[in-house]
Amino acid sequence: MKCKLMHKRTAVADIEIDEVYGGIQSIGTVYNPEHLPVGVALHGGIIERASLNEWWCDRSIPASRSGIETALVTLGVGSTMLLLTRSLGLSLSDQYWICPVDTQLKWDDVNFFENAFSDDIGDILFGAAKKGVALDFSSPDSTSDGNLQKRWKIIDGKRCLIKGGSAPFRQQPFNEVIASGIMERLDIPHIPYSVIWSDGAPYSVCEDFVTKDSELVPAWRIIKSRKKDNSTSMYMHFVNCCDALGVKDAVLFLDRMITLDYIIANEDRHYGNFGLLRDAETLRWLGFAPIYDSGTSLGYNKMIFEMRSERDVVCKPFKNKHTEQLKLVSSFDWIDFDKLRDVREFILDVLSSAGEYSDVSRAEAVADGVERRIRNVRSLAMSRRKEETEADTLSTEDDVERDVAEDYTQNF
Ligand SMILES: Nc1ncnc2c1ncn2[C@@H]1O[C@H](COP(=O)(O)OP(=O)(O)OP(=O)(O)O)[C@@H](O)[C@H]1O
Ligand SMILES: [Mg+2]
Repeated sequence: MKCKLMHKRTAVADIEIDEVYGGIQSIGTVYNPEHLPVGVALHGGIIERASLNEWWCDRSIPASRSGIETALVTLGVGSTMLLLTRSLGLSLSDQYWICPVDTQLKWDDVNFFENAFSDDIGDILFGAAKKGVALDFSSPDSTSDGNLQKRWKIIDGKRCLIKGGSAPFRQQPFNEVIASGIMERLDIPHIPYSVIWSDGAPYSVCEDFVTKDSELVPAWRIIKSRKKDNSTSMYMHFVNCCDALGVKDAVLFLDRMITLDYIIANEDRHYGNFGLLRDAETLRWLGFAPIYDSGTSLGYNKMIFEMRSERDVVCKPFKNKHTEQLKLVSSFDWIDFDKLRDVREFILDVLSSAGEYSDVSRAEAVADGVERRIRNVRSLAMSRRKEETEADTLSTEDDVERDVAEDYTQNF
């Protein structure tokens, strides 16, 4: 299928999509290379096909998505890549899409930020049987990333992402609420989540933080925007990439994200789970996206004794141990620990609504873990402050000595 790769209303390049597997088969004229997805390699005005294909494939629902094989059979579509093509690659997280050359489609008529979309794919992704009538594939669900079952839905005129949890505890939706409550208390920009129930299972709901004018550029694209040399850590590389793009507050953002992830023992802050926002027309960087997707945390899949031992907690993206990653935080001065005083009651309250998926001892183990880790952050913050005060005193003593020495020189 011959089409134009579009960025909102701007034509980026002519491309041809293979109709059997859904990948980008060839690339023709490049119209506006500056509108290419961030990090796609361009050599002498020629787009590296493998690089564009990697971005395009990553736009499809991952093969690891819960229930995707059954959904594809019901949809009668061979792969998630082909599903992507059927919905023109339109998303509610960014503004890229494909316009088949034999059509006169316009962004204003097809985008899902301003136009309604079909529930057909979302229904099937959530386990509904196929309807008798032909399916309407116009849906942002074909481009949604992540492993958990999810769908977009328009609720009271707002685009909302509804996301499930995993068996056996289905704790992720409640964790999203707890994590957003902790971020609220710490003044960390975040996406608020709430829980809804459907057919006896809990789901988290959050509003789309991307608007018709903005788009999310995940960190995994940002780290591709520059070459990393072997002597640079991934943390510094990410900060350098942001710096080069003109986004100067990466350290402040990472301080907050890393601290939050330590407190909630987050196991899945990979490079797709944070990022920057930019204006899709002017390409102006708008800063960091509010923190989203913090549910794979708080011992979501663990037994109580495992939660208490904290032995097998995975850590991402910069280090594989949270205690090591916490050392990357440059300052804890922004934390008002008093605001976390009611965190235990808050957690117990949220988990008390989990019905048969949680009980008092599980909720207590979650709250104990959070309180323990907050205490650790507090003592780390205090010892840092002590070190800084000592260093200040030393340097002041130095100053005094130097002043005295200068005075001596003046006197003689
Ligand atoms: N509120 C939102 N507004 C816009 N885009 C969003 C929002 N929440 C998530 N996304 C996009 O959807 C993707 C999938 O959502 P999310 O990360 O919450 O799902 P997940 O299944 O928990 O992912 P993972 O595989 O990381 O566990 C995100 O990587 C992001 O690109
Ligand atoms: Mg995610």
